[in-house]
Amino acid sequence: MKSIVWSDHQFLIGNWVLDEQHKSIVTKVNEIVTLWKRGASKRDALQDLEKLRELFSRHFTVEEMMLSDAGSALLDEQREAHGSYCDMANEVILDDNISLEMILIDITEWWTNHILIEDMKFKGIL
Ligand SMILES: [Fe+2]
Ligand SMILES: [Fe+2]
Repeated sequence: MKSIVWSDHQFLIGNWVLDEQHKSIVTKVNEIVTLWKRGASKRDALQDLEKLRELFSRHFTVEEMMLSDAGSALLDEQREAHGSYCDMANEVILDDNISLEMILIDITEWWTNHILIEDMKFKGIL
């Protein structure tokens, strides 16, 4: 499993607050990937996973506030996507049958898609 390779050219959506949050979440995900590569179990990584969950939810709140302030038509769609990310993150973190590796495979994919597919829709708008 690979870390997420951040590239400004590819990932920046042009709002510095959101870009910084996106980047710090990538950093946190990559830290957990490193832990996993060093043999950490899900239990070992639990505090980091909790921290990640907190970063997700803080980021989504800020992003939704900005979309709402801008009167963006994308707000409902984004809110729904964010809600399902949070539900999935909660589920996989709490489910003992899902390994750290599986979680990281899901999270690296979700997070990359969150930025490159979902949030790119409002590049230049916020
Ligand atoms: Fe979003
Ligand atoms: Fe975002």
